Amino acid sequence: MNFHTRKWVKPEDLNPNGTLFGGSLLRWIDEEAAIYAIVQLGNQRVVTKYISEINFVSASRQGDIIELGITATDFGRTSITLTCEVRNKITRKSILTVEKMVFVNLGEDGLPAPHGRTEIKYVKDQFKEDSPPA
Ligand SMILES: CC(C)(COP(=O)(O)OP(=O)(O)OC[C@H]1O[C@@H](n2cnc3c(N)ncnc32)[C@H](O)[C@@H]1OP(=O)(O)O)[C@@H](O)C(=O)NCCC(=O)NCCS
Repeated sequence: MNFHTRKWVKPEDLNPNGTLFGGSLLRWIDEEAAIYAIVQLGNQRVVTKYISEINFVSASRQGDIIELGITATDFGRTSITLTCEVRNKITRKSILTVEKMVFVNLGEDGLPAPHGRTEIKYVKDQFKEDSPPA
């Protein structure tokens, strides 16, 4: 699993208990997963369809640096299934796990459309770097 995105837990992210608010974390995760799905499927029209059980494993506090990890576990016809973990960047302690997040690839008509992908693609293989000057 690649942990691409890091977040710094700030006062506005806290709940009344003084720990990281679950809603903030879910927003970050949904966005991170959507970006992952968009990059993997090569289509910006991707929507969240299903999120499985969410396990808030341990609390995070103000000032913590956390990192969000996502990886694809299955490619369907129109869907992609991801798994997710959030952990403390420094201690590596797990903060949250989501076993399954399903995103659906949509066509211009807003209906599910086949994406034709079957395996994880890495950005360097998907987008060619700028050609060297002639
Ligand atoms: C996404 C949406 C267009 C899918 O419509 P639908 O009628 O369920 O479409 P389908 O039945 O053809 O299913 C599409 C894919 O989702 C999968 N899927 C549907 N329901 C699922 C569920 N409960 N759990 C997991 N996967 C599911 C199907 O297996 C299918 O995948 P596949 O083609 O890879 O086999 C529709 O449900 C929708 O618009 N939902 C709202 C999305 C949204 O607003 N999300 C929040 C904001 S991003």
